Amino acid sequence: MKFGHFDDKSREYVIETPHTPLPWINYLGVNDFHSLISNTCGGYSFYKDAKLRRITRYRYNNVPRDISGRFFYINDKGTIWSPAYLPCKTALDSYTCRHGLSYSIFESSKNGLALKITCFVPLNDNCEINKVELTNTTGREKKFSFYSAVEFCLYNAIDDANNYQRNLNLAEVEIDNNTIYHKTEYRERRNHYAFYYSSRKHDGFDTSRDEFLGLENGWDQPVCVLKKTSKDSIVHDYYPIGCHRFELTLKPHESKTIIFILGYVENPEDKKWESKDVINKVKAKAIIEKYKSVKNVDKALNDLKKYWDGLLDAFNVKSNIVKFDRMANIWNQYQCMNTYLMSRSASYYETGTGRGMGFRDSCQDLLGFVHLIPDKAKERIIDIASIQFTDGSTYHQYQPLTKCGNADVGSGFNDDPLWLVAATVAYIKETGDTKILDIPTPFDNKKGSEKSLYDHLLISLNHTIDNLGPHGLPLIGRADWNDCLNLNCFSKTDGESFQTVENNDTHIAESVFIAGMFVKYGKEFVELANHLGKKDDAKHIQEYVDSIEKATIKYGFDYDGGWFKRAYDAYGHEVGSSKCEEGKIFIEPQGFCTMAGIGKDLGLGKKALEASKKYLYDDWGAELLNPPYSSYHLELGEISSYPEGVKENGAVFNHNNPWLTLAFCEEGEAEDAFDLYKRNAPSFIEDKSEIHKTEPYVYSQMIAGRYSPCYGQAKNSWLTGSATWSFVALSEGILGIKPQFDGLEIKPCLSKEFKEVKIKRKFRNCSFDIDIINKGTGNETLTVNGKKQTSSLIKLDKDVKNYSVIVNL
Ligand code: GLC
Ligand code: GLC
Repeated sequence: MKFGHFDDKSREYVIETPHTPLPWINYLGVNDFHSLISNTCGGYSFYKDAKLRRITRYRYNNVPRDISGRFFYINDKGTIWSPAYLPCKTALDSYTCRHGLSYSIFESSKNGLALKITCFVPLNDNCEINKVELTNTTGREKKFSFYSAVEFCLYNAIDDANNYQRNLNLAEVEIDNNTIYHKTEYRERRNHYAFYYSSRKHDGFDTSRDEFLGLENGWDQPVCVLKKTSKDSIVHDYYPIGCHRFELTLKPHESKTIIFILGYVENPEDKKWESKDVINKVKAKAIIEKYKSVKNVDKALNDLKKYWDGLLDAFNVKSNIVKFDRMANIWNQYQCMNTYLMSRSASYYETGTGRGMGFRDSCQDLLGFVHLIPDKAKERIIDIASIQFTDGSTYHQYQPLTKCGNADVGSGFNDDPLWLVAATVAYIKETGDTKILDIPTPFDNKKGSEKSLYDHLLISLNHTIDNLGPHGLPLIGRADWNDCLNLNCFSKTDGESFQTVENNDTHIAESVFIAGMFVKYGKEFVELANHLGKKDDAKHIQEYVDSIEKATIKYGFDYDGGWFKRAYDAYGHEVGSSKCEEGKIFIEPQGFCTMAGIGKDLGLGKKALEASKKYLYDDWGAELLNPPYSSYHLELGEISSYPEGVKENGAVFNHNNPWLTLAFCEEGEAEDAFDLYKRNAPSFIEDKSEIHKTEPYVYSQMIAGRYSPCYGQAKNSWLTGSATWSFVALSEGILGIKPQFDGLEIKPCLSKEFKEVKIKRKFRNCSFDIDIINKGTGNETLTVNGKKQTSSLIKLDKDVKNYSVIVNL
C-alpha cells in the first residue's frame, strides 16, 4: 500500500494523507540554519547544532507523537482546523504535502477555504520562511481568524528539558510591530536571539504559552483560538512562544498571502544592544527587509531550486528503469546531502541531543557526498582529522558547533582511523586535489601539534599495525563498525553504556572486519603513495596488507561453513563461525573482505557471497547475522541485548547491504548485485509502505528481520550510512563509474534488466556523456570520442573537456 507518489518531474514525493504510519519528514536548510519538517508541519529548527542552538522546542516521547513545529489554526465560524491536519486533527476536505529538495509545500482545504504553505530555508540567510496563501474558493465572502505560532526552545536543548528551577524564571521577549523577538539569556552570556515575524500587521499576539493555550488545553485546542482572541501577553518567566493572530476577510475567490519568518541572529559583544534592555535588531531587520515581499520569497525559492539543479547536474542517469533513475538522480543523492549535513545528530529518531558528528559515520558519509560539493568535503575531512590523537586513535564523535572531540564517549573504536583513509582517498580520486594532503592538521585540536594530512593517514594505518592480536588480525578495541559487538566491554550494570565500560581488554579480541578494511584501504593508500612517489611508505603498508590478508585467509575464514568469520572474542573464541550456536554468520566481513579481494584466487569471496545468500537473505535484503542471539552474552555485548531480528541482532541493516552489492560487482555477479539492490531501495519497496512504515523516499537504518514479530518494519530513517553506501553501490558498483587517481574508470556490472543507460557525469571540470548499451555479451568495449580503447580507465587529457563515451557490454 502507498500513501503518496513520486513526482519525478518536480523532484518531489507527494504525500496524499496526513495519516502516514510515522511522521514522514524532510529537511530544510543546506548551510547553517536547519529545520526538520514532517508531513503534518511538525519538527524543529536549529542553528548549526541541534543540541546547543535549538531555536524551537521539540517534545520527546510526546503523545500524539508529532505535536511541535509550525502551528497554524483557522477558526472559521467555530470550526477549528489546521492546514496540515495537526495539531487540531479536524478532518480536511483535501490535503497534500509535497516534500521537495530542501522545501515542503502543504496544500489543503476546508469549507471553501484553501491554504497553501510553502516552507524553506533560503540559501544564505539564517531563517525559515513559511509563505502562507489563503484563498476563498467560494462565491461568498469569508470571514475567519487565522493564527500562526512557534514555541521557543531556550537554545540548549538538554538544559531546556532539565533545568526547570532556572529556566522557568528566565523567559524574555520583545515585541516590535509584527516581530516577536525571543531573547532569553541574551542579557548575560548569550550573543544570539531568535525572532518570528509576520508580513501582515497582526490583530493580536501572544508570547506566553500558558496565556495562549490556557491552563488545561493542549496545542490542539488553544483557548485563544477557541475564543477568537489574543491576550497580547508578554511572557516574563515561563514558556515563551511567538503567536500572531489575524482577522481576515476574503471576498469570493480572493487570495491573501502572509509571509512568516523564523530567524536567528548573532551579535558581537559590543553590538548587542540598541539601548538599555533593547536588543540590536539591525541584522534581523535586514533579513525581514529581504524576505517580506512575495517576489523576493519566490526568487529565493527559485534560487534554491537552481542550487539543487546545479548539484544534481554532476551525476545524472537515464535508463529504462524509472525506479532506479529516481534513486540515482534525486532521492539517494538528496539523502547523501542531508546525512552529510546532519551526521547522526538530528532526525525524528536521533534526538539531536546525543551524538554530534561521528568520526566513522561522517567519513563514510563523504563517500556519497564528495561529488556534490567537494569544497565542503575537504573542510569536513580536516575537521575530522583534527580530532585524531597522535597514536592514530581518534575521538569517536565531535560537536559541530565547537568541532572539538566529545570526551564523554572518548576513543578506542579501532575501525575509526581507517575510515579517514577511505574518505581522503575518495576525495582525491574525485577532485585530483592531492594538495589536501599537505594541509597542517592538528591532533586533538591542539595548536602546535599539526602534521600534514598525509601523515595523519599514515598514522591511521599504523594504528592498526600497532594493534594486532594473537592471530595477526587487528584488535577490535571497544567496537568496530558494529557498535554493538563489544568484545572488551563486559557490561552487567543497567543504564551503563555498552561501549564505554572498557573493563575487560585482554588485547586478544580481534576483528576480521577491520582486517578487511585494512586490506581494502591499505591497498588504496599504497596506490596513493605510489602515485605521489612515496615508495617507502607504499612498501611499508603493502607489507602489512599482505600479512593481514594472509592472516585473514588462515584464521579469518571458516572453511567448514564457507564464509568469513566475524571476530575472536576476549577469550580467543570464534565469533560468527559454524562452531557458534547462534550468530554463526555475520554480513560485515562477507562484504568487506570480498570487496578487499581477500583470498580471491582461492574463491573465498564467491563462497562467502553464496553463504550470505543462503543464510542471510530475506525479502528485504540481507540480515546482519544469522541466527540472532536469543539471550544476553556478556562477552559479546549490546548486540545480544536487542530482541531477535532487530537492529544489529539480525535486522537487515541497510548500511552494509551495499557492501554485499559491491562485493557481487567485484565478483562480476551483475544479477545478484541488482537483485539485492532492489530488495531495500526505497522506490522499489514504496508499495509496501504500510509494512515498512518509514518514508518511501529514503533509506532507514534497518528493516526488522525474519525473527522479529515486526518483520519488514523499518526503523530510524534518514541519517544512516545506508545513503552513502547505496549511492556508491549504485554509481561505482552497478553503473561502474569509478573515479580513480588518473581519470574516470567505467566498468559497469549491469543486470540484463538494463537495456541502455545514459549517464551524464561532471568530473574535475570535464563532462562525460556515457552511453552504455547492454547486450549482455560479457565483453566490455569502450569508445571514447570516437576512438576504441582497450582499458576501462579513461585518462584525462588536459586539452579535452568533453568526453563522449560509448560502452558496449
Ligand atoms: C549506527 C552508527 C554507526 C554504526 C552502526 C552499526 O548506524 O551510527 O556508526 O557503524 O550503527 O552499529
Ligand atoms: C546503539 C545502536 C547502534 C548505534 C549506537 C550509537 O548501539 O544499536 O546502531 O550505532 O547505539 O552509539
